[in-house]
Amino acid sequence: MKPAIPRPPPSTTTFILLPMALLAFLYFFLFPLAKELKLQSLQTTCRRSTFANLTELPIAPKPDFRLFMGILTHPDHYERRHLLRLVYSLQPNLTTAHVDIRFVFCNLTKEDQRVLVALEIMRYDDILILNCTENMDNGKTYAYFSTLPKLFNTTGDADRPPYDYVMKADDDIYFRLGRLAQSLKKMPRHDLYYGCAVPCDRVNPYRHYMSGMGYVLSWDLVQWISTSEISRNHTVGPEDFTTWTWLRDGNRAKDKFDTKPAMYNYPSGDPCAHDLVPDTIAVHQLKNNLKWARTLKYFKVTDGLKPSKLYHIS
Ligand SMILES: *[C@@H]1O[C@H](CO)[C@@H](O)[C@H](O)[C@H]1NC(C)=O
Ligand SMILES: *[C@@H]1O[C@H](CO)[C@@H](O)[C@H](O)[C@H]1NC(C)=O
Ligand SMILES: *[C@@H]1O[C@H](CO)[C@@H](O)[C@H](O)[C@H]1NC(C)=O
Ligand SMILES: *[C@@H]1O[C@H](CO)[C@@H](O)[C@H](O)[C@H]1NC(C)=O
Ligand SMILES: *[C@@H]1O[C@H](CO)[C@@H](O)[C@H](O)[C@H]1NC(C)=O
Ligand SMILES: *[C@@H]1O[C@H](CO)[C@@H](O)[C@H](O)[C@H]1NC(C)=O
Repeated sequence: MKPAIPRPPPSTTTFILLPMALLAFLYFFLFPLAKELKLQSLQTTCRRSTFANLTELPIAPKPDFRLFMGILTHPDHYERRHLLRLVYSLQPNLTTAHVDIRFVFCNLTKEDQRVLVALEIMRYDDILILNCTENMDNGKTYAYFSTLPKLFNTTGDADRPPYDYVMKADDDIYFRLGRLAQSLKKMPRHDLYYGCAVPCDRVNPYRHYMSGMGYVLSWDLVQWISTSEISRNHTVGPEDFTTWTWLRDGNRAKDKFDTKPAMYNYPSGDPCAHDLVPDTIAVHQLKNNLKWARTLKYFKVTDGLKPSKLYHIS
């Protein structure tokens, strides 16, 4: 990832031919305003420079917490990334939490990926490519957690880490970011392991780990994972279970928070599945467009569609 330089919003460029005074007005008054709005808007496109030097930025109000949400996906899943970008950019009811959403994958391997993924980065700058070979349970999650502290090692200030929390999410889960932010706001900022505890049908505290659908670790745990021999020695295996064994063997994560029943699988026979309910943080196993559509409809995501003579939807 190269450090991105904040660019003026496209609206600025459309005024390029107007008198200099107008241009100056736009730059000095509207651009800072746009930046502030963007910080609060949970957008997916916040630039890396946003956390390069926190003291330089007009962060107002100070976010309750900062979350790095990595969606582990495959380079070829272009359509899914398109859907996720749409869904997360349209979420209503923003809070003061700061959420950076990034798509995470391993080394590109194909000629088309090197061009099409580069295009996406040029347009969205929301992709993180790790130094690993694409895999699910073969160390990708370790590569993810262990890379982040190195990438964001900027301030060296333990009291003010670049993020409070790091999430590992699948690409078939829908998070309601407002509800997630509301829930995380109340959580401890240290030693936290948060998610949907599995197995869902029995409570065995010795084998009770957070489902890989989407779990959150506090930054101190991510730092620990990146340096501990316990995790480095054991990177292969079902990724969610493996993460838990690191924490168990390292005697970490005293604070565990199980979000059930607010995180669950899309209705099916699965013990972790149940009907869609209003108090939902996340719905998982959205494996096809119909399941996405039914979920988004349930949460009334498209209710705000304006009528127009240009289209008819129903
Ligand atoms: C961040 O910016 C402040 C104010 O411009 C400056 O004093 C400080 O040295 C910078 N810190 C880093 C780590 O660049
Ligand atoms: C937004 O929040 C307000 C109150 O905070 C609530 O009444 C409203 O229903 C929410 N809207 C949506 C779309 O969630
Ligand atoms: C990337 O991984 C390969 C194979 O594990 C290793 O040889 C190489 O040094 C790594 N590169 C970087 C920049 O870490
Ligand atoms: C990933 O790609 C980088 C750059 O091409 C290369 O140095 C590295 O060895 C690759 N890593 C793996 C694990 O294939
Ligand atoms: C962060 O940077 C400091 C000094 O620049 C270095 O000593 C430390 O090892 C780095 N930490 C990580 C996790 O890379
Ligand atoms: C990790 O593996 C190395 C080499 O096999 C071994 O010496 C070390 O004790 C292991 N550490 C842990 C914490 O298991």
